[in-house]
Amino acid sequence: MFKLVKTITSLAALTLASSLVQAQNVSEFASIGRVATPAEIKAWDIDVRPDFKGLPKGSGTADQGQQIWDAQCASCHGTFGESNEVFTPLIGGTTAKDIETGRVASLTSPNQPQRTTLMKVPTVSTLYDYIYRAMPWNAPRSLSADDTYALVAYMLALGEVVPEDFTLSDKNIAEVQKRMPNRNGMTDKHGMWTVSGTPDVKATACMTNCVAEVKITSSLPDFARNAHNNLAEQDRTFGPYRGSDSTKPPLKALPGANYVASVTTVKTAAAAKPAATDADTAALKQSFTKNNCAACHAPAAKGVGPSNADVAKKYKGQDVLAKLSAKVKNGGSGAWGMIPMPPHPQVPDDEINRLVKWMLSGS
Ligand code: HEC
Ligand code: HEC
Repeated sequence: MFKLVKTITSLAALTLASSLVQAQNVSEFASIGRVATPAEIKAWDIDVRPDFKGLPKGSGTADQGQQIWDAQCASCHGTFGESNEVFTPLIGGTTAKDIETGRVASLTSPNQPQRTTLMKVPTVSTLYDYIYRAMPWNAPRSLSADDTYALVAYMLALGEVVPEDFTLSDKNIAEVQKRMPNRNGMTDKHGMWTVSGTPDVKATACMTNCVAEVKITSSLPDFARNAHNNLAEQDRTFGPYRGSDSTKPPLKALPGANYVASVTTVKTAAAAKPAATDADTAALKQSFTKNNCAACHAPAAKGVGPSNADVAKKYKGQDVLAKLSAKVKNGGSGAWGMIPMPPHPQVPDDEINRLVKWMLSGS
């Protein structure tokens, strides 16, 4: 009874609340924005489904794919998609037998050191969609449909799913799907599927005599602990959970005190800096974002590349403007780690100079 009354009251409250929101929408926001045009929606509507709905017409050869790969992908993913530098390898670990069975055997083998993209991906549409949408990482959405067909053809040729002289197109992609090594690898046995409208959670909650301690059954080997540089300096600039300091052995207990300490340091560092007010700084910041530098370099935190503050600190008092500007133009790695900075041929030389000078001056 109580429950019923409560439900009715909260439903009424909900209806009231939503009509209030609607009323507000009309009165306060009616003059803001406009309905998106069909062309604008079309520009964003690029998803390709496993049944190939949304796939643009086009084609590309594995040969063309290799040209684009070498110019735009190899610097990060390796010549054969084998690189482990910026991401786990894309190609490798699949066999001719997997193409027959549609299930990649090495996924369950303890001898397989890494799980590659090709080992996992069940649908060729996902490969197409992801590359078209998100790659190359430093210039997403710059590839044409034909470029993307060519790249997928090349990657599948590297994995020996299609022959080296293959031409992939919207006409034959469904045939290629039938050869995807892990096409039968999709499962609904993981409790995150929807069956007749209810989530299919299969785990049974333990209510009595539960295990007191979590048993860790797999962990990173010691040599790989710092494979992606110090996790404590990356990501998560807020909240209580941080990457642990992977330059040191694992901690015995959670670092509650460290959390407060690190937040305070970040705050003090930010407060010590003079506020950016003048128009020059604003223009530089804008250019830094517009030219994609901000995707990898942040003022004080390490991203894909070193932080602006670290660059300024490292080269303090040194005459390195020309050297560093040339490196931004041509790309390179080794000064801060293994991860390469891609080349920036599209940014004018004097603009690179201005940006690097700004970084060196403590931005
Ligand atoms: C500047 C470095 C960089 C370049 C250049 C680059 N990638 Fe990537 N790529 C990445 C990173 C980093 C990820 C992982 C992104 C993530 O998980 O958010 C990734 C992920 C991928 C994935 C998805 C892997 C998976 O299993 O989720 C594919 C496929 C891929 N890249 C293909 C390409 C292709 C094709 C090109 C060239 C057109 C390219 N990449 C160029 C850095 C790069
Ligand atoms: C895709 C990521 C990425 C982008 C985009 C990027 N950088 Fe970098 N940058 C890096 C990485 C990684 C390094 C470290 C390279 C190394 O270890 O030698 C780096 C290093 C640097 C350095 C120091 C070089 C040295 O030898 O010490 C400067 C200066 C720099 N970047 C400026 C820029 C500017 C300016 C832009 C924009 C035009 C930019 N970067 C865009 C990833 C990037």
